[in-house]
Formats: sequence, structure tokens, C-alpha cells
Amino acid sequence: MGMLKSSLAFLVLAFAFFLCFIMSAGDGSYDYFQFVQQWPPTNCRVRIKRPCSNPRPLQYFTIHGLWPSNYSNPTVPSNCNGSKFDARKVSPQLRNKLTKSWPDVESGNDTKFWEGEWNKHGTCSEQTLHQMQYFEISHDMWLSHNITHILKNATIVPSATQTWKYSDIVTPIKIATKRTPLLRCKPDPAQNKSGPKTQLLHEVVLCYGYNTKKQIDCNRTAGCWNNVDIKFQ
Ligand SMILES: *[C@@H]1O[C@H](CO)[C@@H](O)[C@H](O)[C@H]1NC(C)=O
Ligand SMILES: *[C@@H]1O[C@H](CO)[C@@H](O)[C@H](O)[C@H]1NC(C)=O
Ligand SMILES: *[C@@H]1O[C@H](CO)[C@@H](O)[C@H](O)[C@H]1NC(C)=O
Ligand SMILES: *[C@@H]1O[C@H](CO)[C@@H](O)[C@H](O)[C@H]1NC(C)=O
Ligand SMILES: *[C@@H]1O[C@H](CO)[C@@H](O)[C@H](O)[C@H]1NC(C)=O
Ligand SMILES: *[C@@H]1O[C@H](CO)[C@@H](O)[C@H](O)[C@H]1NC(C)=O
Ligand SMILES: *[C@@H]1O[C@H](CO)[C@@H](O)[C@H](O)[C@H]1NC(C)=O
Repeated sequence: MGMLKSSLAFLVLAFAFFLCFIMSAGDGSYDYFQFVQQWPPTNCRVRIKRPCSNPRPLQYFTIHGLWPSNYSNPTVPSNCNGSKFDARKVSPQLRNKLTKSWPDVESGNDTKFWEGEWNKHGTCSEQTLHQMQYFEISHDMWLSHNITHILKNATIVPSATQTWKYSDIVTPIKIATKRTPLLRCKPDPAQNKSGPKTQLLHEVVLCYGYNTKKQIDCNRTAGCWNNVDIKFQ
């Protein structure tokens, strides 16, 4: 009986070590997630040489990607040694959802966009989210905070003439999500050397903890120039 108990204890311990090993294995280590949404008209406006396949880009924020990230090194992780993208793991229902939330607004091949994001970023958090979970959770994040709606509610809507300060745009998102987001901008291709410097709002980043369960404050440096007016158009 004692023998049985101790071998059971041994098995439990061995299993625990095994789990620890699995969880630390691979190069996919990261601190938190950045959930990046983009404003399609900006994607298309800055693509001068190869225009977007759809000449009238979507007028709502769509997913760019869910990026496992490292606090101390902004360039890692990426392209980890995980399973490569498998289109068969995207069920018809999931495909339906992602076509709306995560379209390829540039070339129009959604599957290719999903493949690129999974292979570059998703592989680095595969120990937490397998491929199907990675896409399902991203879609749920997109649904849970409608950035287009939050900005509209704060009367921040596309305008050819109006400009905003960084804090004008961040504040309503911060109020709605209760966490600090990050904005990313692109240089405005229409700006003149003589005129004032301007930038286009391109992306809104929400940050999530290691297991994606909890939204957290983003604390990386903003991807917009300081003290340069922001256009949203
Ligand atoms: C973050 O990157 C640094 C430097 O490359 C590395 O030493 C560290 O282990 C990484 N942290 C995590 C959690 O992966
Ligand atoms: C992935 O695995 C290959 C072969 O095992 C190795 O050469 C490569 O350095 C690994 N890449 C990363 C990012 O760890
Ligand atoms: C779209 O991308 C996928 C994945 O890279 C590829 O298999 C497929 O042939 C592409 N479709 C078109 C129409 O180019
Ligand atoms: C997000 O908000 C916009 C603007 O209010 C609305 O048109 C759109 O239908 C909403 N999207 C979803 C998925 O609810
Ligand atoms: C809409 O605006 C009101 C008043 O400014 C604010 O209290 C509310 O939280 C906003 N709702 C969303 C979803 O942003
Ligand atoms: C740049 O200059 C041209 C003419 O000089 C003007 O039509 C255009 O509106 C200017 N663009 C901006 C962004 O100021
Ligand atoms: C961001 O927050 C994390 C976790 O609290 C911390 O380890 C890191 O040093 C912070 N980075 C900056 C730039 O404040």
C-alpha cells in the first residue's frame, strides 16, 4: 500500500516536471500581448506604388495581428519554431468571422494575411494559444472593444480637414477600455515641405497579459511623433 502511494506520488511529481518542461520548451517566450487594429484607409493611402486591391477601403478598424511581445526588447519574439499555419484549421464559421474582423485590406488575400501573422507572431505564443484559439481570441478581442464605435462616440470621425492631438484620441479609448492603449501613425504622404508636419492615425494597440485573460496598460513608446497633429481620414 505504502509502495503504491509513493509510486503514485512519484508519478504525480514526474508529471508536474513534465508539464514544466513542456511549458518552458521552445523559443516562444514573451511577457504580454499587443492586439493591433488598423484603419484600412491609412494602409491604402500610404501604399503609393501598389494600390490596395479594393479602391474603397473599409471604414472600420480591422485586426492587424495579435503579437506576443517582450518588455525589454521590442524586436522579439518573432518567427518562432512552432507549427506552420494550417488553413484547414480555420473552420468555415471562423473564416466567416475573420473575413469581417481580419481581412487583408491591401492585397485582398485574407488567408495569406492570416498565414503571415500566425507564422511571424502566433508561433511565438503557441504554448498558450494554439492556432484556432489564436484566431478565435483575436476575433473576440475585436468584438469586445469596438474602436470605431468608441471614437465615433467621442466625435472622432474621419475628416479631411480636422486634426487631433494624441491625447484627444487616446482618452476616449482609455475611458472605454479602462486601460491605456497605444497609437501608431504613418507620415502623411500629402504633407508639404512648406506646410505643417502631419501624420495619419494608422493603428490602435490594446495590451493583454500573458494568458490574454486580462487587458493591461500598454507602456511602450507611442508609434506617433510627439507634438505633431494627427489626421484621421
Ligand atoms: C526578452 O528579451 C530579452 C532580450 O532579448 C531576453 O533576454 C528575455 O529572456 C526576453 N524575455 C522573455 C520573457 O522572453
Ligand atoms: C528553430 O530551430 C532550428 C533548428 O532546430 C534552429 O536552427 C533555429 O535557430 C531555431 N530558431 C529559433 C528562432 O529559435
Ligand atoms: C492566397 O494565399 C494562400 C496562402 O498563402 C494561397 O494558398 C492561395 O493560393 C492564395 N490565393 C490567391 C487567389 O492568390
Ligand atoms: C462597431 O461600431 C461601428 C460604429 O458605431 C458600427 O458601424 C459597427 O457595426 C460596429 N461593429 C460591430 C462588430 O459591432
Ligand atoms: C460614449 O460617450 C459617453 C459620454 O462621453 C461615455 O460616458 C461613454 O462611456 C462612451 N461610450 C463608449 C462605448 O465609448
Ligand atoms: C500641399 O500644397 C498643395 C499646393 O501647394 C495644396 O493643394 C495641398 O492642400 C497642400 N497639402 C497639405 C497637406 O497641406
Ligand atoms: C512596462 O511594464 C512592465 C510590467 O509592469 C515593466 O516590467 C516594464 O519595465 C515597463 N516598461 C516601461 C518602458 O515602463
